[in-house]
Amino acid sequence: MSPSPLLHVHAVRKQFGKQVTAAGVDLQVANGEFFTMLGPSGSGKSTILRMIAGLEHPDSGRILINGQDVTDLPPWRRDLGMVFQQYANFPHMTVAQNIAYGLRRRKLDREAVRKRVSELLDLVSLPGFEERPVTRLSGGEQQRVAIARALAPRPRLLLLDEPLSALDEKIRREMQAQLKDIQRVTGTAFVYVTHDQEEALTMSDRVAVLNWGHLVQVDEPHALFRHPRTKFVATFFRGSNVVEGKLVGQGRSSIFECSAFRVALPELPSKFAHPPAVAIRGEDLRINGHPSPEDITFDAVLERVVYRGVYTDYQLRLVDGQVVTASATSGQNLPAGQKVQVAVRPEGITPLQAEPA
Ligand SMILES: Nc1ncnc2c1ncn2[C@@H]1O[C@H](COP(=O)(O)OP(=O)(O)OP(=O)(O)O)[C@@H](O)[C@H]1O
Ligand SMILES: [Mg+2]
Repeated sequence: MSPSPLLHVHAVRKQFGKQVTAAGVDLQVANGEFFTMLGPSGSGKSTILRMIAGLEHPDSGRILINGQDVTDLPPWRRDLGMVFQQYANFPHMTVAQNIAYGLRRRKLDREAVRKRVSELLDLVSLPGFEERPVTRLSGGEQQRVAIARALAPRPRLLLLDEPLSALDEKIRREMQAQLKDIQRVTGTAFVYVTHDQEEALTMSDRVAVLNWGHLVQVDEPHALFRHPRTKFVATFFRGSNVVEGKLVGQGRSSIFECSAFRVALPELPSKFAHPPAVAIRGEDLRINGHPSPEDITFDAVLERVVYRGVYTDYQLRLVDGQVVTASATSGQNLPAGQKVQVAVRPEGITPLQAEPA
């Protein structure tokens, strides 16, 4: 991270009654970065975003934008734009009037406004839409107008709270790609809120996973997906298995042991999960293959085979009754009830640490 990030949220706390919605949140977003907050309903995503926006005041902690402490500044003095789930356009205005509204604080002449509106409509792929009444547009189009309006004054930071969740699946996917393009072309930093893991993984430079007001893990999508840090993160991403066991050896050495296998962990997290547990992605579990010498192998009983299109899931019961799911693209014709050999590379086994308290 560069020495002076565009956005610095420092030790921010917020509580509503007994409900802690931000439990000392620290995060930094760089210029031009696509940063996503991902978490289940009620985890505090919107509250944190609203504090960055200035719509909510933290109980303690500071918010800095461009090195300036903006904690006590109103939203319009923070050099940022906002887009919400509900298209917040003015219904009685045309598309051009809506976008120009975002420019009202800039003293621009009519021609400059016209030019900027046209530029923004090109950017959001709605060229020539100036005179349309905004209410006649489809949901996806209205949201693009809202994005154009928010970007009109060229903020360095755009905050987006589930902007695509009201759209149907197909349009949502198209808009994901389009938003990512807009972000890249304009170089605006995005802080994006979603509860959709796929959206977070496909669009973001970094993702912060939130649970009960805690940032549980902040990582690049690949690292987050491959190496979840806690059980919460592992189970949040479909397809990860959590296997419980114990740590064995002298002085809590780094050997993890469960009923099926033993594995030496290269490093132990400072606060290991209790009970000790590791995460393994379903795609990393291989059934009846040709294990290499460094692979960890174990026996399991194949309980169920579930065809899922691209993947086939194999539910495997370990000796102590724990169930894990292996996923493979090439469906093997294996009857349920039989014993199989399972192999996994040691790098595919991620030690889990305790959830933040
Ligand atoms: N103004 C408020 N007054 C009281 N409680 C609030 C207020 N705003 C948020 N909360 C509570 O804080 C918690 C977090 O809410 P928040 O809206 O930040 O979650 P979220 O992660 O955005 O959830 P969702 O995915 O459902 O939008 C919730 O329990 C919510 O009820
Ligand atoms: Mg929300």
